Amino acid sequence: MERTLLYEGKAKKVYQVNDRTREIILSYKNDATAFNGEKKSVFPGKGRLNNEISSLIFTKLREKGIKSHFIKQLNKTEQLVYQTEIIPLEVVVRNVAAGSITKRLGMKERTPFNPPIVELFYKNDDLKDPLINDEHAILLTNISLNELKEIKEKALEINETLSEIFQRIGIKLVDFKVEFGRLADGWIVLADEISPDTCRLWDVETMEKLDKDVFRQGTGDLIEVYEEILNRLEEQK
Ligand code: TMP
Repeated sequence: MERTLLYEGKAKKVYQVNDRTREIILSYKNDATAFNGEKKSVFPGKGRLNNEISSLIFTKLREKGIKSHFIKQLNKTEQLVYQTEIIPLEVVVRNVAAGSITKRLGMKERTPFNPPIVELFYKNDDLKDPLINDEHAILLTNISLNELKEIKEKALEINETLSEIFQRIGIKLVDFKVEFGRLADGWIVLADEISPDTCRLWDVETMEKLDKDVFRQGTGDLIEVYEEILNRLEEQK
């Protein structure tokens, strides 16, 4: 398939393949970054693991009626998706306190949130993705107040389905980040990826961290824990 590089991010490359249908290829890289790119490393095999995990999850979400950019997995490291205009928001849902909220609000790690908390971050590397409120989001993006409401509801719906998927394989979904994009026809759908790069996943029994925190905190083998997630998801298929 003839392809043109459209964009290269920290974890993926994006290729244009078909102008007419607006289908693009997401190619997962082996690079890992943390703290806004300050910490960097390459993990052979990471691209395949995240592509397989994200493809599996988006397929399961589709079965539950959650619309996304995902079309199909193409090969080990690539998937075909509909091109969207990414809304520059990182929508984070938290079920349990961990990560930035523990530092920002002085909360003890593992404090449960009932109901879950939704947070918005402005996707902007120069500003280091600051936390923003709804009014900021409306001002900084091209979405309407109603669309923002829908995005937050959708994030909570995704949380319910994802939490169930992980619960079945003995994992607590602590928190995760999703992004949304606008299709050519104007509709907003789930986009980007859902993987151990973008979720906090703790083993229910041992509380072991099975996500990118092992790289952020230097506490474990990234490939080993991502493999563990993929294996458990595949056993459940
Ligand atoms: P945080 O606790 O650092 O705010 O992260 C919340 C969730 O969002 C966590 O599951 C990791 C994910 N995340 C990303 O996917 N990309 C990012 O750039 C950051 C900062 C967090």
